[in-house]
Amino acid sequence: MCGIIGFSGTADTKDVILGGLKRLEYRGYDSAGIAILNNDKINMVKTSGKVDQLIELAKKNDSLTGSCGIGHTRWATHGVPSDVNAHPHMSSDGKFAIVHNGIIENYIEIKNELTRKGVKFLSDTDTEVIVQLLDYYYDGDLKKTLVKVSSMIEGSYALGVLCTDFPNTIYVAKVSSPLLIGVGVGENYFASDITAFINKTKNVIDLDDGEFAEITANKVFIFDSKLKEIKKQERKVTWDVTAAEKSGYEHFMLKEIMEQPASLKATIEPRIKDNKISFEELNIDIKKYDRILITACGSAYYAGCVGRDIIEKVCNIPVYTEVASEFRYRNPIIDEKTLVIAISQSGETADTIAAIKEAKSKSSDVVAIVNVVGSAIAKLADYTIYTWAGPEIAVATTKGYTTQVAILYMFAIWAAHKLEKINDDTFASLTKDIKSLPERAQRTLDLNTRVKKLADKYYEKKSVFFIGRYLDYAVCLEGSLKLKEISYIHSEAYPAGELKHGTIALIEKGRLVVAVCCYEPLLDKIISNIQQVKARGAQVLALAVEGNKKIFTESDDVLLVPKTNELFMAVMEIIPLQLFAYYVAKKNGCDIDKPKNLAKSVTVE
Ligand code: G6P
Repeated sequence: MCGIIGFSGTADTKDVILGGLKRLEYRGYDSAGIAILNNDKINMVKTSGKVDQLIELAKKNDSLTGSCGIGHTRWATHGVPSDVNAHPHMSSDGKFAIVHNGIIENYIEIKNELTRKGVKFLSDTDTEVIVQLLDYYYDGDLKKTLVKVSSMIEGSYALGVLCTDFPNTIYVAKVSSPLLIGVGVGENYFASDITAFINKTKNVIDLDDGEFAEITANKVFIFDSKLKEIKKQERKVTWDVTAAEKSGYEHFMLKEIMEQPASLKATIEPRIKDNKISFEELNIDIKKYDRILITACGSAYYAGCVGRDIIEKVCNIPVYTEVASEFRYRNPIIDEKTLVIAISQSGETADTIAAIKEAKSKSSDVVAIVNVVGSAIAKLADYTIYTWAGPEIAVATTKGYTTQVAILYMFAIWAAHKLEKINDDTFASLTKDIKSLPERAQRTLDLNTRVKKLADKYYEKKSVFFIGRYLDYAVCLEGSLKLKEISYIHSEAYPAGELKHGTIALIEKGRLVVAVCCYEPLLDKIISNIQQVKARGAQVLALAVEGNKKIFTESDDVLLVPKTNELFMAVMEIIPLQLFAYYVAKKNGCDIDKPKNLAKSVTVE
């Protein structure tokens, strides 16, 4: 939930760290801080508020010089967002400063114990126990002390540590929170995410759980808990720095919406061989399973709902969905005959990780659909299918979601073919439909100007309902989430036929109902639902497929999306809903890329 960065080198450390924090801000944005080691002194500035506030303060602070530093941007878990609770945290003697991403679960016991021993705590955070433990047990050998402290803390952590005894050196440790080392020429970095230093180096070492590193400008020394050196391979990041920049767009969200044709192409095309879908990464015998269970959180879960309907339809195998945060508490009835599909853009979501562990403990095979290469979920799953959507920075996912849906489409028909539910010709023809999605998505983006006008018309609504049936309902879930998470307008998604069983009481004159009417076999059904809400005064904005004339007489406004196979409409349906949420939020003056109270990757339960 937090972003951390560290740097050792000859460049301006303050600039490097603050620049990195700006890029990491999507991970948390309620407070931020920086600490720089200058010979035998650590100078620190931290503040509640966004990184821009920190930048203002840091600019005025001449003490922030030195060739080695750490920075942090926070999403508060323990202790309110405040200057004191912001990271870095320093030991009282000023010898150590640390930044931490994760949660220390046994911090209360440690805090009580240290307090009894006379240690004074300044903040309400769980993190502070780490720096106090380091200070308490330090005997001149920092590597040894760090290993000792790591053995005392429970939970998840990616840590960056400065110590005045080791100028120009940063120490890092990792368990269950992401930490990457960026290897440059005469300078080295660490961060929660490559975006923090992608403008400086593309050479990365992924630190694994239980590993530590000592980082100086010219050397990265990785070691284990026995202080034994570990040799690790570097990997090269393939995407360019512009992928992590706004490139002229006002917001990352708009840029990422517009990138969808390209990201869908990157997801789909490499997996089409001889006009058929192939998953080299999936070495499974699909016939072994008698059911599939899809688990995920937020938008990834809603992508799973689309996947459920398609897989069930084409494979004729029962598919269930379960939000990952509930998964382990429902004691799901799964076994080795259940294939669990876990979906996560970030690959870091704590609840999804817990669900995967639960599934594995019950002998189920786990396939993960993940965007971030080398992430915790990618490593934990038995099989990982990457979406290759490129970095997604806006908190509200867009291309992350559509590429997950595309993978689920491909999985569905790949599995149906393996299960002999579809023949070669159908397989090839459905593959062709999927291959056309990037082009269809591009044409859907032509609705941009029209959607903006509709947002201008409807942006003052206080409550919105999204209705749809079957596959369209699954898309309503995501469309409604998009609107509420970035514009803070109350919105709900309903299966259109369910509305009359209670919630129709909330339909009154002027209430906006967004009706998704693209699944044509059920068109007449949803039209009758539209009539029910119209009869109660609702304004209806309908989303339908090109060529649908009937819908115009039933609705106040209509958006027509390009036609494709009715199974694969979700990608076209969600794009105008993403744009609608974006422009409504913009018109309401919301902070679109960093909506209040949210964070992009939720690494706490
Ligand atoms: C957070 C984000 C959502 C996202 C969900 C799952 O709640 O705000 O946008 O859908 O986490 O994230 P994941 O990275 O697992 O897809």
